[in-house]
Amino acid sequence: MISQTLPEHIAIIMDGNGRWAKERGLKRTAGHEQGAKVVRDITEHCAKIGIDYLTLYAFSTENWNRPKLEVEFLMKLLERYLQNEKEIYLKNNIRFKAIGDLSKFSLSLQKIINEVQTQTTACTAMTQILALNYGSRDEITRAVNKVIATNKQITQENIEANLDTAGIPDVDLLIRTSGEVRISNFLLWQSAYAEMFFTNTYWPEFHPNELDDIISDFGKRQRRFGGV
Ligand code: IPE
Ligand code: IPE
Ligand code: MG
Repeated sequence: MISQTLPEHIAIIMDGNGRWAKERGLKRTAGHEQGAKVVRDITEHCAKIGIDYLTLYAFSTENWNRPKLEVEFLMKLLERYLQNEKEIYLKNNIRFKAIGDLSKFSLSLQKIINEVQTQTTACTAMTQILALNYGSRDEITRAVNKVIATNKQITQENIEANLDTAGIPDVDLLIRTSGEVRISNFLLWQSAYAEMFFTNTYWPEFHPNELDDIISDFGKRQRRFGGV
């Protein structure tokens, strides 16, 4: 169904796990569990249809404000997910990369993140980027400090070269699930000219077919980048 104008970089704010679970009389954590399965489906689908970069917002710098038990569950889920996913990345030739301030995570989580990044560096079908303890304001602030530390001028190019996403093209298509219509501190710099798409579907129910529909809608949009 998709022929041309495929977005090179899709970014998704995966939202609605908690509400999906609550509406089914389940604990919020059941929503996260189901959400992790959808991460795999959507990632494999994107690699299959020829998307080059898929960035998924998995844990924000503000998500530490959640109840301790939920944060702990998310950390364990992430570790387990990466552990299991190694094979899947390699099987699908997917490179894994993390963005965000990883130094706040436990050493065991940092270790598995680094391991999977290293083991998949040579994979070429697609890059899946997980935003972990990620916040755009934090990322931009860290980038500016890195520029200052090297005594370079503060220019757009120098800031960009020091973002966690250095070398990755800007976001073409930004999707948020769950009906919320906000950015929540995600890829502010990189989404300057992204096409936005908001769906009411909760993340645990998001399906590759819906993604295909969104991508075909993207193909019909006229991007002007300030021109005419
Ligand atoms: C998104 O779902 C997952 C994370 C932010 C980790 P939520 O947990 O925010 O689900 P809702 O928004 O409360 O339904
Ligand atoms: C954004 O979702 C963060 C992630 C999806 C990881 P939130 O559920 O944390 O965002 P808000 O609080 O509704 O803005
Ligand atoms: Mg939410």
